[in-house]
Amino acid sequence: MINKKNEKNIVWHEHQLSKKQRARLKGQKACVLWFTGLSGSGKSTIANALEQRLYALNKHTYLLDGDNIRLGLNKDLGFSDKDRIENIRRIGEVSKLFIDSGTMVLTAFISPFLADRNIVRKLVEKGEFIEVFVDTALTICENRDPKGLYLNAREGKISNFTGISSPYEVPLSAEIHLKTEGKSVKTCVVQIIDYLNSKGYL
Ligand code: ADX
Repeated sequence: MINKKNEKNIVWHEHQLSKKQRARLKGQKACVLWFTGLSGSGKSTIANALEQRLYALNKHTYLLDGDNIRLGLNKDLGFSDKDRIENIRRIGEVSKLFIDSGTMVLTAFISPFLADRNIVRKLVEKGEFIEVFVDTALTICENRDPKGLYLNAREGKISNFTGISSPYEVPLSAEIHLKTEGKSVKTCVVQIIDYLNSKGYL
């Protein structure tokens, strides 16, 4: 949480080396590819495959993944609205730091609330936030149920489960809309790479 008292006594320190210089050294344009979608929609799988593709293109990337971050940095957070808001706020700030380092960041979080995704969008510079909507129907995610969580949520053993007992707010203007039904991971990766190419990120 923001500590107003601290804000008053702390002054931003300008660094000598700029984001532009660090990105130039890496031969790339720093940005965050913000994957959003239901649990089991394929966010992590597609982000992983994309990261490999970008690596092959000599791009310096870093993937921040919901489950992993919740085992470390955000292990104090649960799934109440308040905790999810804080989860996304922290990931937004971490992404901004990685962007500042000149890195292409990939994030894979449900990030169910429109307002929170928009806060991150505004936190970074124009053109640095690329929202990737992994649009997979709830029925498909529930059928996949790779971690058995949907079953537990239906049985009431997990509360506040996104899509079941907690809302997912669909992006209204995502830069990249992946309608995953009937599409391979590779096809989704190609769609993202095409976007990055057409907008001058690669
Ligand atoms: S977010 O809503 O705060 O963005 P995040 O992406 O970090 O969620 O974590 C989602 C992952 O946590 C899911 O993929 C799932 O494995 C696990 N999980 C555990 N409990 C819940 C829950 N109540 N709702 C959604 N996901 C949950």
